Amino acid sequence: MKKSILLLSGIFAIVMIVFTACQPENVTQNGNDVLATPQLPNEAADYESVEYPDHFASRFSFANRNNPNVTNDGATLGRVLFYDTRLSVNNSVSCASCHHQDKAFSDGLKGSTGFGGKVTPRNSLTISNASLTNNLFWDSRVNLLPELILEPIQNHVEMGMEDVDLLVAKLASTEYYPALFEKAYGSSEVTAERVSDAMSQFLGSMKSISAKYDEATAAQNDYAAFSDLEKLGMEVFFGDRGQCVGCHAGSNFSNVNSYYDNNSLRGATNIGLDLVDSDQGIENGRFRIPSLRNVALSAPYMHDGRYETLEEVVEFYDSGVKSNPNLDPRFVMDDGSPIRLNLTEIEKQALVAFMHTLTDENYITDPKFSDPFRK
Ligand code: HEC
Ligand code: HEC
Repeated sequence: MKKSILLLSGIFAIVMIVFTACQPENVTQNGNDVLATPQLPNEAADYESVEYPDHFASRFSFANRNNPNVTNDGATLGRVLFYDTRLSVNNSVSCASCHHQDKAFSDGLKGSTGFGGKVTPRNSLTISNASLTNNLFWDSRVNLLPELILEPIQNHVEMGMEDVDLLVAKLASTEYYPALFEKAYGSSEVTAERVSDAMSQFLGSMKSISAKYDEATAAQNDYAAFSDLEKLGMEVFFGDRGQCVGCHAGSNFSNVNSYYDNNSLRGATNIGLDLVDSDQGIENGRFRIPSLRNVALSAPYMHDGRYETLEEVVEFYDSGVKSNPNLDPRFVMDDGSPIRLNLTEIEKQALVAFMHTLTDENYITDPKFSDPFRK
């Protein structure tokens, strides 16, 4: 009866998750029929030898980051786990239900829909270059990838699989996991630790490194391929007019410092979205500075998904910052009033155009990050 809906993708697909969540044995995902077993290449794809280009390294020290030891078979197993709805309590939701490859692994919704149709309080984050940060989730509550994995699986709203032993038994009873664990770890034993490790390897291998911006930057900063508008946007972004780089820094356009490591304002801050914060984030309305990689694909924006478009976001920075008592000092003027950038219309459009140069088509279409259960 839902055949016609099944054909639709995008936002309507999410609605399907709500429907399917009520049908325990259903194995549809993102609105498409899925294969009962994953379809994998005969020879594992290359995950392990892909390095960050030099222009990433030049602006970062890689010390103490999340760099899981990636093997091709380990990441392949992680890929299957990431897309497998069996990781949720009623076989309705996988990690990918809220992290879609075509949206740089965000989901286009204000809040994401979990296994029982309940909605997460915060906006889904894109996933890319997670191995460059130790500052995960909107409130930076997790530093290391393996610590993160079991959280959504067990989460009451997201996947609801509270009993890890049950998860392990469930995976061990499938026809495909024992062989995949064998390949990745030399024995077919399924353990929670291996689930976390394999998925961390997959997440760690998800590198978005070939946006238009990267191609130009890697070519000795030759931005000849940029339009005039994109060039102006880059100037506004990095220069005094916009000062965006003060927070969205480095090659990940984020901030790699964990709030908890140095208790500094650098990794997370309050940008004055509201006079009074309804969600306190880390504390006092401070939220992680999100990466702007693939940001053009990850609407809606901010921790609560309040802005639909990048134009609205730019408008906020230009004229909408509120004098929140915990406002980042960089946004407080000498007379105590909140910052006003007074950008011209062209400068605003330029900022948006520049953010679009951070979109990485290779990343969102690379088969090695795609759904192995889909025909
Ligand atoms: C029901 C939707 C949902 C499911 C299922 C889900 N996530 Fe998420 N994910 C989110 C939301 C929402 C956030 C942001 C939440 C927050 O920060 O508080 C998030 C954040 C993340 C982040 C943090 C990214 C960053 O830059 O900090 C990672 C990594 C992640 N999820 C991986 C996973 C993995 C792996 C799974 C499966 C085991 C998974 N997610 C399942 C909705 C979901
Ligand atoms: C003082 C630090 C700071 C500065 C300066 C700053 N940002 Fe942000 N930015 C943040 C934080 C923190 C968030 C998340 C806020 C939240 O959701 O509560 C954010 C969120 C965003 C988002 C939404 C991302 C998403 O995935 O939802 C965009 C887009 C963005 N900023 C662009 C810009 C641009 C363009 C500029 C320059 C005009 C800029 N930022 C300047 C700290 C900053």
